[in-house]
Amino acid sequence: MKIDAILSPADLPALARRDLRDTACVVFDVLRATSTFVTALHNGAKAVIPVAEIFEALALRQKQPGVLLGGERDGVKIRAAQTGGGDFDLGNSPREYTPEKVRGKTIVSTTTNGTRALRACAGAQTVLAASFLNLTATAKLVQQLRPAEVLLVCAGTRENIATEDVLAAGALAETLIRWGETTGEPKREQKHLGSRGRSPHQKDACEFSDSAETARNAWRKAKSNLLEVVSKAENARRLLAIPELRDDVAFCLQPDVFDLVAALGRDGTIRTSI
Ligand code: MLT
Repeated sequence: MKIDAILSPADLPALARRDLRDTACVVFDVLRATSTFVTALHNGAKAVIPVAEIFEALALRQKQPGVLLGGERDGVKIRAAQTGGGDFDLGNSPREYTPEKVRGKTIVSTTTNGTRALRACAGAQTVLAASFLNLTATAKLVQQLRPAEVLLVCAGTRENIATEDVLAAGALAETLIRWGETTGEPKREQKHLGSRGRSPHQKDACEFSDSAETARNAWRKAKSNLLEVVSKAENARRLLAIPELRDDVAFCLQPDVFDLVAALGRDGTIRTSI
């Protein structure tokens, strides 16, 4: 399995020119879009439909009046002044997506980076919305699917790299490597081969691109101090400065509290099954 990573959202447009037919894209927007979607599904939401723009969310609600509208701009709930109508039902805090609010509901969500990153992966064999909250469940599915390539997609913050997304991508890569070493098959050396393809001597091993290796190294360095490291990052600093959102940071860094996989289907809808 080849493991590659897109660390910066500035590289997302290039995905449109890449053949992703044999690739499983695993998208991380830890603070907070993918963490929120996973929480909503765990709490009984039927589905999440990610859309890039506010007007697309409003158009979907016109067609399907039962959906809830969620998301953010500048981290906070989308308000009437931005819709030309009413406020959105929900912001982008995972803690808002309680069973009472979301059970049985379809949520249409537009966020600054997360929903765009998911949509940029359209055309991939598989697209998964991942977070620390469901990291092991996601890794298990990837391991079962064994795609030719895993592309770890970090949604970032505005045009910038987001530390928390790179760390989660590194954690997933590390998990896959660890399992690869303990599958019961003869242990194979894992090699960093750069981004230029497989070594003939490493037929079945995980092959890391430079960017995937960078994420993995960042995770190894930060994992014992995750909250402290992430709290210094741009996205976390913004959330920590907003009293009602500050607890989102610690919430989103909890490891494996949900045993579910969130997959984006060909119909543009995220559900728990694949
Ligand atoms: C995004 O999609 O950019 C985010 O999830 C931002 C946020 O929730 O604050």
